[in-house]
Amino acid sequence: MCVIGIETSCDETGVALYDGERGLLGHQLYSQVALHAGYGGVVPELASRDHVRKLVPLLRGLLEQVGLEHDAISGVAYTAGPGLAGALLVGAALGRSLAWAWDVPAIGVHHMEGHLLAPMLEPAPPAFPFVALLVSGGHTQLVEVAGIGRYRLLGQSVDDAAGEAFDKTAKMLGLGYPGGPVLAARAERGDPTRFRFPRPMTDRPGLDFSFSGLKTFALTTLQRESAGLGGAELEQLKDDIARAFEDAVVDTLAIKCRRALEASGVDTLVLAGGVSANRRLQARVDLMMAERGGRACYPRAEFCTDNGAMIAYAGWQRLHAGQHEGLSFDIRPRWPMESLPAV
Ligand code: KG4
Ligand code: ZN
Repeated sequence: MCVIGIETSCDETGVALYDGERGLLGHQLYSQVALHAGYGGVVPELASRDHVRKLVPLLRGLLEQVGLEHDAISGVAYTAGPGLAGALLVGAALGRSLAWAWDVPAIGVHHMEGHLLAPMLEPAPPAFPFVALLVSGGHTQLVEVAGIGRYRLLGQSVDDAAGEAFDKTAKMLGLGYPGGPVLAARAERGDPTRFRFPRPMTDRPGLDFSFSGLKTFALTTLQRESAGLGGAELEQLKDDIARAFEDAVVDTLAIKCRRALEASGVDTLVLAGGVSANRRLQARVDLMMAERGGRACYPRAEFCTDNGAMIAYAGWQRLHAGQHEGLSFDIRPRWPMESLPAV
């Protein structure tokens, strides 16, 4: 079975083809970063309009790239949520229409399930059961995963998601957009010993997170330390704050991952979602797993952030198991992952 995947939940237009026998056949991504950069964040209406412009040419390009006609496609998967309603509607409307026209089944995929399963596209995929840390721009969740669609939420952020905290802190430091990669690059040049930020909610039991205080911590540090500074000194201060912020987020995530593994009694940890592209986070959990025994799995960098491949793969899993939507389609901007049926 060969499934086409369509991702339009936020600011990336992604398409991919996944085949049950041959694996991932191809994928293409168009990023709207340049479109939103001037606004310092994603403008939902501009995002949907750009998906409308880019989606069909991207799909055509993908079919050309893999050398297939549409009659080779036996299923369509599109992101149905969570995400921006207008942006989701573009992918859902096109995906459902194509499936109708081609007379193949269609399925609406949960975006975070897509992220969660993305490591399955790598050469040494994780085996169930495992604990997954899902860290994106909208979600920070620890999930116990017994199988596809068998999810138990262990903990989540009570305020900002980890990616959101990166984005807001980067914006506040005047580092630009998108915040995560920019802040991480600046942190590389930062002095790790100059500031120490708190590790929120690690001093009490539990698996929930809170990241909004770190952004305030970064702001007050900047205000306190920047008086009279300019030029290179000010830039160094920002690098040092970026480093302290990143270290605090990474450390906090790792501490909670360790707790979740202990509580679940499993020894495989999956990282997924945009923030899992963070090198320091990857290195930190690799080290932790080497010490305690077990393995950390995360997708290649381009599949950490939004992409069509993860949607094609998650959709293939469900279509292959016989699940599909009716002829009408709906989008689910808010959609708890635990409500998904098991495969
Ligand atoms: O999964 P994703 O592409 O989109 C959502 O589903 O939200 O995640 C995007 C988030 C953004 O907040 C971005 O700043 C963050 O992932 N991000 C990073 C890095 N790359 C992307 N955060 C920290 N370090 C990175 N290298
Ligand atoms: Zn995402």
